[in-house]
Amino acid sequence: MEKVVSLCKRRGFVFPSSEIYGGIGSTYDYGHYGVLLKNNVKAQWWRALLLDRDDVVALDSAIIQHPRTWEASGHLEGFTDPLVECRTCGQRFRADHLEALPCGRKPSRHPGGDPACDLTESRSFNLMFETTMGPVRETGAAVYLRPETAQGIFVNFKNVLSFSRKKPPFGIAQVGKSFRNEITPGNFIFRMREFEQMEMEFFVPPTEAERWFAYWTTARRDWYLELGLRADRLRLRPHDADELSHYSSATSDVEYLFPIGWSELEGIANRGDFDLTQHARFSGEKLEYFDQATSEHYVPHVIEPAAGADRAALAFLCDAYDEDEIGGERRTVLRLHPRLAPVKAAVLPLVRKDGQPELAREVRDALRERVMCEYDEGGAIGRRYRRQDEIGTPFAVTVDHQSLEDRTVTVRERDSLAQERVAIDALGDELERRLRAPWTRPHPG
Ligand code: GAP
Repeated sequence: MEKVVSLCKRRGFVFPSSEIYGGIGSTYDYGHYGVLLKNNVKAQWWRALLLDRDDVVALDSAIIQHPRTWEASGHLEGFTDPLVECRTCGQRFRADHLEALPCGRKPSRHPGGDPACDLTESRSFNLMFETTMGPVRETGAAVYLRPETAQGIFVNFKNVLSFSRKKPPFGIAQVGKSFRNEITPGNFIFRMREFEQMEMEFFVPPTEAERWFAYWTTARRDWYLELGLRADRLRLRPHDADELSHYSSATSDVEYLFPIGWSELEGIANRGDFDLTQHARFSGEKLEYFDQATSEHYVPHVIEPAAGADRAALAFLCDAYDEDEIGGERRTVLRLHPRLAPVKAAVLPLVRKDGQPELAREVRDALRERVMCEYDEGGAIGRRYRRQDEIGTPFAVTVDHQSLEDRTVTVRERDSLAQERVAIDALGDELERRLRAPWTRPHPG
């Protein structure tokens, strides 16, 4: 993990937030390459849910919802973690994490801690961020930053149903920021207080819920595999009955073998009719579907694949990180799926003279309408290749003296290091063709 964190900082993927003020607890800012990578992760998610099918529609709901939303959803009462504090050193822990340790049910010391450490009794701590709405801080103005994007979907069920004229089975998908006052955030962007979710609520006739749960569990696992995650580092883990959330009758996690161990990447839950029923009760609105074929009203059941954009980006980074040796020189390379790579092509003049930079810029200008590319003329060509390898650029396009004679360039491939001459006029088509082709990891790394 340290190597990934250090690469992210060195190459401007991710920085600790507010660093000049000493940082602010487990909050991170994304720099140029990080923004491009995370945008690509989200674009691939939208592609799988919207472009590749016609039974899902998009939504972008507000971060602040009516506070009754969180009463209905159960978050106000139940979205809590058990918190213990150390009276001596002031550190805070989740009591349920401590109980797994040999120190017993009521630990008096925290993990590996000083013998003088002395833990308080556990108390419930609500993870929602509270703020006030309007110019005056008065009672009744309390609102919450959403802890999940899902509820914005449920409260819009009626709107979407009427405008889209969809009928179950159909899904509503949204991507956006969520906020949780996590007691123990950490492990870089794995667990933050402000993070981005990619969630879809798939509404189905009640009798079809089990079938769709199985379908989405497999489909979501396969999405990570198609984007190149190693199969031996990915698994599905069904929740035991005592782990299930209050709303769920079945949940399976897609887990990835992060450097911190097997951890949740995404959860797929069968939420039944819990959410629509609750919001109907609290709002007084009917949240049902009228099936004309049977002349029956019913409350659809919901299958929810809920993923984290930051956590997915971290998994792709960890999986892609590799070091090898070329010509006796060590290189760091991100073997990202080309569709996820922040930059698709680097355009490099071999030397900074003889008209090569001018032609290389012309090549870059033609390419950039089609793929994200970068121009670099600074330093020896080998060093420029390494810089691109380190950020995962799949193709390096080099303009050399021959390019000026016959208008061809070499295309160097990041993983195989194979170089091929391609006509400048055919370059855009060729790169797009390669980007569309299925990609497999060259070797285990
Ligand atoms: N609507 C259901 C829901 O929110 P969740 O398992 O709490 O379920 C879904 O969250 C996904 O959101 C997680 O699998 C994870 O990828 C991401 N996520 C949750 N909390 C996070 C945090 N504190 N930091 C980063 N990602 C988080």
